[in-house]
Parts: sequence; structure tokens; C-alpha cells
Amino acid sequence: MSRQNDSPVWASEKLNNVHGDPDKGSKVQKMFDDVAARYDFTNRVISIYMDKRWRKRAIKSANIDDNARVLDLCCGTGDMVFEFADQYRSIDITGLDFSENMLKMARAKQDSIKSGRYKSLDIKWLSGDASDLGFPDAQFDLVSCAFGLRNLQDPAKAVAEASRVLKRKGKIVILEFGIPENFLLKMVVKCYLRYILPVLGRLASGSSSGAYDYFPRSVADFGTSSLLKQALTDAGFKDIKIQKICLATVLLITATKNLDEEYLI
Ligand SMILES: C[S@@+](CC[C@H](N)C(=O)[O-])C[C@H]1O[C@@H](n2cnc3c(N)ncnc32)[C@H](O)[C@@H]1O
Repeated sequence: MSRQNDSPVWASEKLNNVHGDPDKGSKVQKMFDDVAARYDFTNRVISIYMDKRWRKRAIKSANIDDNARVLDLCCGTGDMVFEFADQYRSIDITGLDFSENMLKMARAKQDSIKSGRYKSLDIKWLSGDASDLGFPDAQFDLVSCAFGLRNLQDPAKAVAEASRVLKRKGKIVILEFGIPENFLLKMVVKCYLRYILPVLGRLASGSSSGAYDYFPRSVADFGTSSLLKQALTDAGFKDIKIQKICLATVLLITATKNLDEEYLI
């Protein structure tokens, strides 16, 4: 699963402008293909085992029906999908990602989970681009995306696509990293991102792709709260709620499609 060529995907000079890089999409794809095999372990290490709790909380906040139809964008190795399956037994869920290696890990996890509790569930794993969904309009009750939007070439396009494939009054749930506003906390988080996370990430993942040098830059330069709020508003979402969790380093964002009467058909 690792790349033949060991040169980093992100050359250090490109790290100054990760979101403006015209090749961001293909670099991100290579990077996740490269780290897929040890992605889960690395996540647990760099988040001090808190990432599972964030996903659990995000899914609870969605508060959907048991038989809802859900699309998880940028599903990676499937942790959101499996968490949905745990909380909603008869859910109809599709996980979509553009990294074949991440999807391979997700499928392998579904097969290997010992109790077999996911084997009977009809989980669909789909290879595709979150900014260009191949679904007809109004198919899903919920679209989720955990730690994916920041990695997209055009996050606003993916939010607009999410809106298009949602049914009226469908919901979106987003988890994304952010930087706290409080001065002291901001300094602590920036130090962690700059000096500790890249080392931990490199050691835990064994990857020389530069993924864990890209990570802190992509968080620091994203402007999660304002950018995603604008994208959601532009895509016609209402009732946008942003909860700050884990000392405001993680944002849990929920919104609903077309609550207004003017959208009623
Ligand atoms: C940080 S991982 C998050 C994975 C998973 N949601 C989780 O919570 O662990 C980001 C994922 O987004 C995927 N991704 C990035 N850009 C994408 C795109 N344009 N279309 C589909 N998937 C994309 C990557 O392949 C990667 O698996």
C-alpha cells in the first residue's frame, strides 16, 4: 500500500499555501493512499484516543430515524460509518471516498470485526469525489463528513453537492479541526500542531509522504468556522449550529436543508 517513490507528496515550499495549491486534490489523494494502512492507529495517537468520542457525539447530534438513508463523505477507513451502524441498527448507509487504499481498509475492517455485527448490514462503499457526487437529487436524509472538507480542493462545491443530494429538511453533520480564539489556548494548540504532531504522526504512520507536515498547515490556514458557515449558507442550509469541542480544537457543525416555506414544493 505504500508508494514506490519515497519522496514526500508535499514539498516543504508548497506547505506555505496548501489550500491554494492547484494540485491539492491529487496530492491529498496520494497522501491518504500512502497513510491508509496505519491511518487508524495514527489517528488514535495524535488525538490521544479522543477521535472516537468526537464521531460518537457528532452522530448523536444528528438525531435521525432508525431507517434513515445516510451518505458519509470522505469516509476514509469507515470509522463514522461503523459508528452510525452501532447507533442506528437498520440504517441504510453509504461511505464515499476517493482514496482506494482508505476504502480497502474500510472493507477489510467490516469483514474482520469479530462479532460480525456489521457483516449483515448493507454498508455500501463507494469510490468517488465528494465535490461531484454521482447521485440524483434529494436521495439522503443525512450527509456527514468527518475531517474531510478541509482536504478538498473546493470545499464549498462539496457542501453544495451535499445540499443537492439531501431530501428537503435533510441534515448535514460536519466535524472539522479548528484553532481556538483564546490567546493562550491558541499558542498551546499551535505549538502542538507545529512541533509535536508532525513527529508523532511520522512515527505512528511510518510515512514519509509529508502527510503530518501538511496536517497542521491545513488546519491553521483553513478558517474552518467562517469558511464552512459561508459555504453552508450559500448552499441553502438553515439553522446552522457550530459547537466547539475539545477546547475549541474540533468544531461540530450541524445544519438543515431548506427549512423555509419558500422552498416547499
Ligand atoms: C482525514 S480523513 C477522514 C476520514 C474519516 N472521515 C475519519 O473520520 O477518520 C479525510 C478523507 O477524505 C478523503 N478525501 C479527500 N478529498 C476527497 C474528495 N475530493 N473526494 C472524496 N474523498 C476525499 C481522503 O481520501 C481521506 O480518506
